Formats: sequence, structure tokens, C-alpha cells
Amino acid sequence: MQIQIPALVDAIETRSSTNFFQPDSALEDAAILRLVELATRAPTAFNLQNWRFLAVRSPQEKARLQALAAGQAKVSEAAVTFILCGLHPRQGSLPPLLAPSVEAGYMPAALAADLASAADAFYGDNLRLSRDEAIRSASLAGAFLMIAAQAHGLGACPMVGFDADAVAQAFGLAQDEVPVMLVAVGRTAAGNWPQKPRLAPASVATLL
Ligand SMILES: Cc1cc2nc3c(=O)[nH]c(=O)nc-3n(C[C@H](O)[C@H](O)[C@H](O)COP(=O)(O)O)c2cc1C
Repeated sequence: MQIQIPALVDAIETRSSTNFFQPDSALEDAAILRLVELATRAPTAFNLQNWRFLAVRSPQEKARLQALAAGQAKVSEAAVTFILCGLHPRQGSLPPLLAPSVEAGYMPAALAADLASAADAFYGDNLRLSRDEAIRSASLAGAFLMIAAQAHGLGACPMVGFDADAVAQAFGLAQDEVPVMLVAVGRTAAGNWPQKPRLAPASVATLL
């Protein structure tokens, strides 16, 4: 994936949802993992990193997913379509996730222990809060993933047009894994629209 990387603001301003991909234009596994790596630079509450990226890239698996995504052709035509899952925060999951920050020397061990307890107490058995967190984390990762794709000269399209229950079952998701969105990524073909106009900032912002 040797392509020129435009500035981040350019990537944000030029990104649009890709409808047409070059079929049969595969991405190397290393490129797919690099995109995932960049997506995981998104923040999560407590640094929970409560996500999983199912990179659906083989023709057979893409066909299976396309059938559960209202037949949307881009699911198969893209080089890879991610099933972006957010996880309900799991009790006791934080200590190993915070350990690298402690080992790096900037997070005191006692603070890491306090944060781990606080997270467990915060989510507890609150299903709504846990699901909200799953959706927040996966959504942030999705945004980072799409911008990373754009910055690497690739196109991407987020999709909610899929049967979440059927996808969870067909791809063996655990009970606490929410398939938040699909994100198709690949080389763009002709015929895609530019980014659609947005509402004026002043009409959506409230300056207090
Ligand atoms: C959560 C979400 C779900 C979407 N689902 C679909 C979808 O299932 N199929 C599709 O073609 N586009 C889908 N889109 C793309 C939107 O239609 C698109 O982002 C919007 O029209 C703005 O266009 P732009 O991103 O090109 O500026 C989705 C976008 C988001 C953020």
C-alpha cells in the first residue's frame, strides 16, 4: 500500500461513502491489519478497547455476509467488509489492559487498580450502559477506520443495512458482542458521489 498520505484534514474533507468498489481488488492482510491498528488508536472509556474487528475478505464469507446485508453489492465488491463489533465491558477485564501504562511508568499501579474497580462498579449489571459503551467504542473505531482508509487512498462505506441478529449468529458472535456496523473498505471505482453537503456548523452547534 505505497500511496501518498494526504493531510488528515484533507482526508476528513474528501471522505465520502463509497458505493462502488473495484471488484477483485484485494488488500494484503498486512494492510488490513494496519487499518485495524489505526482504528484501535480511537479512545475508549477507561481504555477498555471493547471491540472486535471481523475482517470478512474471502469471496465465500463476503457472499454469506452480503446475503444478510440486504444484498448490498459493496459488501462483496469491497476488498474487505468489517463487521465492527462493540463489546459490553467485561468485569475484571481492565487490569491487563492498563498494565502497559503502568509498566511504561506514567500510570501509578494504585491508580490502575482504582480505575479497574471503578469501571467494574460503573457498568455493573447495567445492560443499557454496557450496550451504550459497546456502541460508543465501535462507532469511534469505525470513524477512525474510515478516515484511515481515506488517508491511504482507499474508499470506505459504513452500513447499518444488515440483520444484526442473523449476522451475530452466522459469524458466531458472543452474547456480549454487538455488531454495531459494517464498514466496507477497498479501492474505489468510477461513479461514486462526492461527500454530501452538511448542515452549517452554526445550525448544529450551541455555543454556551
Ligand atoms: C451508521 C451509518 C449507517 C449507514 N448505512 C448505510 C447502508 O447500509 N448502506 C449505504 O449505502 N450507506 C450507508 N451509510 C452511508 C450514509 O448514507 C452516508 O454516510 C451519508 O449519506 C452521508 O454521505 P457521505 O458519507 O458520502 O457524505 C451509512 C452511514 C452511517 C454513518
